[in-house]
Amino acid sequence: MTDLFPRGIAKGKAFYDRTKERKQLKKNIENSIHTVLIAPRRYGKTSLMTQVLYENKIDYIWIDFMTITDRNDVRLKLLQKISTVAVKMAPTTDKLKSLVTKYFGNLKPELTFRLPGIELKFNTQLSNPQAAMTNTNYHDEIIEALISLDNLATELKRRIVVVCDEFQEVLRIDHNATLQGSLRHAVERAQQITYLFSGSSPQALRCMFNGKENPLYALCDCFYLDKIDSVEYRDFINQAAIEKWGAPLTEEVLNQILSYSDRYPRYVNALCGTIWANGMQPTAALVEELWHAYVLSKKTDITEDLSELTLNQRRLLQRLCGNAIDEIYGKDTLAMLDMPQSSIQKAVAALLEKGFIIEENGVYKVLDPILISYFSMF
Ligand SMILES: Nc1ncnc2c1ncn2[C@@H]1O[C@H](COP(=O)(O)OP(=O)(O)OP(=O)(O)O)[C@@H](O)[C@H]1O
Ligand SMILES: [Mg+2]
Repeated sequence: MTDLFPRGIAKGKAFYDRTKERKQLKKNIENSIHTVLIAPRRYGKTSLMTQVLYENKIDYIWIDFMTITDRNDVRLKLLQKISTVAVKMAPTTDKLKSLVTKYFGNLKPELTFRLPGIELKFNTQLSNPQAAMTNTNYHDEIIEALISLDNLATELKRRIVVVCDEFQEVLRIDHNATLQGSLRHAVERAQQITYLFSGSSPQALRCMFNGKENPLYALCDCFYLDKIDSVEYRDFINQAAIEKWGAPLTEEVLNQILSYSDRYPRYVNALCGTIWANGMQPTAALVEELWHAYVLSKKTDITEDLSELTLNQRRLLQRLCGNAIDEIYGKDTLAMLDMPQSSIQKAVAALLEKGFIIEENGVYKVLDPILISYFSMF
């Protein structure tokens, strides 16, 4: 059942519908509409992109900015991924040789034949090491690598996607926005590459892609991902229940799964995974027991997350776990929290920035249902 309710990225049979979103993303990719996929953490951005690329057999390179520590790292990862995708896309070894010589000749490509296949390596020494400290070098080479990849895809008449996941992390290594400037340069010139940016900090991404003063301004379609609809979940879970127990789940049990997990696919999968592994046809009591056990198994992660917060931030979070608050600076809230307005303002800003809470139409609420359960248990 872990196949059907995976803990990791969901694809294939384990992927719940998201029909509308898949269609839209596919259309954007095919029509060179560069897209920024925005949603809070764990809404399923990575899974959605993976599924669309997988089911449409689209070649791609994937850069996870969470694993990037400086600009040179971007260049190195890019070259490494480009070499892999070039090997995959070229129809024959001779074609591969001619393509890489034509488009990546500067990087002195080396082809080696090693099981399970061919390996392509580029010379990753900077062409002008003396200038490396200025960063111009990295940028020129990043632009050149992306444009060469686009030329290669154009010659092969193939669509290719460049995914920049966890893209809000670029802000940590790109204080003067020059890397974003280089990306703009490459994106604007792309013919066969569609760029997908994705990240979990709506504020930062909105600012990067919608802020007039920023290099990536007005470059992409903004695609806001909502939570998966409960109807889609119900159909999927009940189908799996019929296969397992010969009958759908009771309404009570279904509602409980969707309410504990707050319709986060990660938690729906975790909870259903343990219910299915348990084997007994679930009752409300069993679901409650399994959910509490799951929350407890996350205690270390939760404590680590909470330890990063100041006491004021924790106090506000605790209150918000009890209830969403609309008038966050209203008299009642000030009295309830027993904190001055300026401290609440600071705590709200920090919790928003760290992704603990969101604000929707003036209402502030905690994002992670695990935290809500944790605070209610202890
Ligand atoms: N459509 C889906 N069908 C089935 N499971 C899904 C779906 N979307 C997400 N999941 C599950 O939820 C988990 C979290 O999804 P994913 O990693 O794609 O979210 P994310 O928005 O990229 O999160 P983060 O911001 O933390 O990177 C996945 O590991 C997967 O198990
Ligand atoms: Mg992700």
